[in-house]
Amino acid sequence: MKLFSVVVLAFILPLIRAQVPHWGPCPEPAVQPAFNLKEFMGRWFEISKLPAQFEKGWCIETNFTLRTDNSIRVVSSEILKGELRKIEGTGVIEDMKNPAKLGISYSYVLPYSPYWIMSTDYVNSALVYSCTDILRIFHVDFAWILGRTRTLPDATVEKAMEIFAKNNIDVSRMIPSRQKDCDQTI
Ligand SMILES: *[C@@H]1O[C@H](CO)[C@@H](O)[C@H](O)[C@H]1NC(C)=O
Repeated sequence: MKLFSVVVLAFILPLIRAQVPHWGPCPEPAVQPAFNLKEFMGRWFEISKLPAQFEKGWCIETNFTLRTDNSIRVVSSEILKGELRKIEGTGVIEDMKNPAKLGISYSYVLPYSPYWIMSTDYVNSALVYSCTDILRIFHVDFAWILGRTRTLPDATVEKAMEIFAKNNIDVSRMIPSRQKDCDQTI
């Protein structure tokens, strides 16, 4: 039991430090109805996010492509200290009845983390939410506004914040992501 607690703590502490934990289990937001995975593929830029410790760079973008086995190739990139860094992960639809609820893992030793497409028009913007329950006592979550272009109109961002809030997701700490001078830096 003691060992178990230590292992659990070692696993969750970095998560807790990365985000402000909220009491209670994860909220259950509505997700994009009739989600079309194919249309969602391609390049998305990070417009705004809840701060996550594992994202320190800027010009963050993700390129989704379908693999022949129907899994999703997820290549995320950022510029950190003047260098372009890329990581590759795998995305899956975990339950075909809920195609907008993706899982993404950046390493085969890690479990899939939730990556829920709450809303998207496929051509302009997307709202993504990820939440992990910790012993059902509290939860840590991440939220992103993604755009097909490096910037989105303020009205689109405001609308997105409203949708998060309506679904009981606290986005008061959401911050704009830096997407300036991206093509010149590298
Ligand atoms: C996205 O990935 C696909 C497949 O690997 C590639 O053909 C395409 O050029 C990539 N797009 C960007 C913007 O990196």
